[in-house]
Amino acid sequence: MNSRREHFGSRAAVIMAMAGSAIGLGNIWRFPYIVGEYGGAAFVLAFVICSIFISIPILLCESVIGRRSHQNTFGAMQTLAPGTGWKWLGLLTVITPIIIVSYYSVVGGWSIAYLFKALTFQFRPEDAESVSGIFGLFVSSALPPVLCHLLFIGICSLIVFLGVKKGIEKFSKTTMPVLFVLIVLIAVYSLTLPGSGEGVRYLLAPDFSKLTPKAWASALGQSFFSLSLGVGTMLTYSSYVSSKEDLVLSGAGTALSDLVFAVLAGFAIMPAVFAGGITPGAGPGLVFETLPYIFAKMGDAAPVASAVVAVLFFLTILVAALSSAISMVEVGVAYLSEEKGVSRGKATLGIFLFACILGIFCSLSFGPLSSFRILGNSLFDFCDKLCSNYLMVLGALLFSVFAGWKIKKEDFLDELSNSGSIKGRGVLNATIYYLIKFVAPVAILLIFVLGLFG
Ligand code: PHE
Repeated sequence: MNSRREHFGSRAAVIMAMAGSAIGLGNIWRFPYIVGEYGGAAFVLAFVICSIFISIPILLCESVIGRRSHQNTFGAMQTLAPGTGWKWLGLLTVITPIIIVSYYSVVGGWSIAYLFKALTFQFRPEDAESVSGIFGLFVSSALPPVLCHLLFIGICSLIVFLGVKKGIEKFSKTTMPVLFVLIVLIAVYSLTLPGSGEGVRYLLAPDFSKLTPKAWASALGQSFFSLSLGVGTMLTYSSYVSSKEDLVLSGAGTALSDLVFAVLAGFAIMPAVFAGGITPGAGPGLVFETLPYIFAKMGDAAPVASAVVAVLFFLTILVAALSSAISMVEVGVAYLSEEKGVSRGKATLGIFLFACILGIFCSLSFGPLSSFRILGNSLFDFCDKLCSNYLMVLGALLFSVFAGWKIKKEDFLDELSNSGSIKGRGVLNATIYYLIKFVAPVAILLIFVLGLFG
């Protein structure tokens, strides 16, 4: 084991850092919407089933690979399967998060701009009708979103530069509890608005007839993206987990926090959307158009409350996006500093510059460069589709094949049980192993195919 490497200080730190990676835009702008779309509580049940039987086992396989090797993704493959082609999986999972963070940071930048708008009372009742159009104007303008992107990736790189303990651990431990308090406060407020009951029904009324194969595929895809799987972030974070930590407990804690936050985000957003008499959509429109419209309209009856909630809401998005983005940057920094021998500062600077440049082009693809298309997509959409629909899925598939078929079963179980010191989990750990070996690869291929033709 590499003794120079830093370690997270406690189980709480591990869970907060991993939950920080997991909780992000996926929880806030996709989960609430697809829950309503695919049958409310029935979909939540499908999501939980997919998480328990497939996503958590894959999270654990990344955890085992990371903690067993105490290496970055590339080094992990070289250590556990020396001289084999598995190093390409290590490299793939260095490249994917660097691409993701480049465009994720553009959206992170939007949340900085909207936090500023909320702080300067720009969602006024008299502007309610025009507030949603402002988003289109903002993203298609050249300089403001680019500057916000640079600010976002700058803050994120600074946190990573400070190190695993002083940067990532400290940031996650301070912000995660605050994030939960904020989302609970917003949810409580949202639930007290007149007409919010419709939103609760939208989220919860179970409709099992909507659980189509496509809904199952979405549940699995969502739990995958939400748990940051297949891109080496969980592997890299696990490589900083001490040999005494219980991987199963910290994995379960991470998944539970992610689910609870997603459900709370649903209660924060949907009741307010329905109280405002709007039909919800997904993605940027929900967060940057619909909600500002609602904040502006609420300003009529409760100007102070609506301004405060708007600030809290965009702050929540910003912090959630930052803690996810730092996990993506760390993958590349760990790789460059450990494999290429550069200092942490230079490695962070390298990733920062790459993400700045690709992100600038992604940002401009909403405006001045919108006519530049790759296979019919803008650069932003192309990067997003390439990563979420293909590279992440491929990464997760290969991780499960690697853990299930390349690593020896005894070694895998040895790592899960901390060399036998965690007792009484034989059946559970063996079940996890078989889920990784047989169920996960088949299920991942299935989502992939359903995603292509569904
Ligand atoms: N899980 C994050 C979210 O829900 C996204 C993410 C993907 C983070 C891949 C890290 C790696 O927004």
